[in-house]
Amino acid sequence: MSTNERVRELGTWLRESKRTVALTGAGVSTDSGIPDFRSPRSGLWAKHDPMQVASISGFRSDPAAFYGFWSERFGALGQAEPNVAHRVLAKLEARGLVHAIVTQNIDGLHQRAGSRRVLEVHGTWRTARCTTCGARFDTLRLFDDVPPGASARERVPTCDRCGGLVKPDVVLFGEALADDFAEAERAVDRCDLLVVLGTSLEVWPVAGLAPRARAAGARVVVINREATVADQEADLVIHAELREAMQRLARELDVTR
Ligand code: OAD
Repeated sequence: MSTNERVRELGTWLRESKRTVALTGAGVSTDSGIPDFRSPRSGLWAKHDPMQVASISGFRSDPAAFYGFWSERFGALGQAEPNVAHRVLAKLEARGLVHAIVTQNIDGLHQRAGSRRVLEVHGTWRTARCTTCGARFDTLRLFDDVPPGASARERVPTCDRCGGLVKPDVVLFGEALADDFAEAERAVDRCDLLVVLGTSLEVWPVAGLAPRARAAGARVVVINREATVADQEADLVIHAELREAMQRLARELDVTR
């Protein structure tokens, strides 16, 4: 089957479905200028050690290195705009063709594109919390008072109330998932179509949502540039660039406007 035919098949299944859930990962946001994690060469984990910059133990043992990585990333996240894939998903939701988006992304671009029911199972970069007293902060404001030329150590944000270490509300390796995950599991249990987009599905427990959907009787569709661990069990696999696949899907379902 050609990519066109596969996209057409997906369009038919979306029309037939009573409850569709989209499960998205970093590949949905690469066209917005945010690198993914595991693409060869361009993926963040090709250059950075996730255990140092994305684990709770790395955060606690060397917060300066952690924030060296994240303050640069906050800059990119702050500049990013939604792309075609975010916009088409929002239009599909508005037409009643998608019921929920479960996202591993922390960038907030689904909501910016107009999606309403978004479950952020790996948290969000926009807010942060004191690890000692729980005080909440707007992440971008954390660096307001940092003097130019401050050292990496001086750039580590601390709580203005109790002096505790402040951590962005992103889920790190070694931490429990965000509260949204329980709701994501319920949404997947009730869906009859799960469309997986732009994720390698290498990270658990999110990776378990695809077999969970199948066990509940749903069809599973994967749209991704490279092969994923879910391909073998999927009912339909579309290996394509998301920009092209989603533009075709939008035309197929007449949601281009
Ligand atoms: P990955 O980097 O593991 O996977 C992204 C997938 O998207 C890859 O398989 C790419 O081939 C594909 N991709 C990238 N750009 C694409 C495009 N324009 N069109 C089509 N496909 C494209 O990212 P995730 O699966 O989201 O967690 O990673 C899961 C989790 O691992 C993240 O949430 C993060 C990370 O470590 C934590 O930090 C806890």
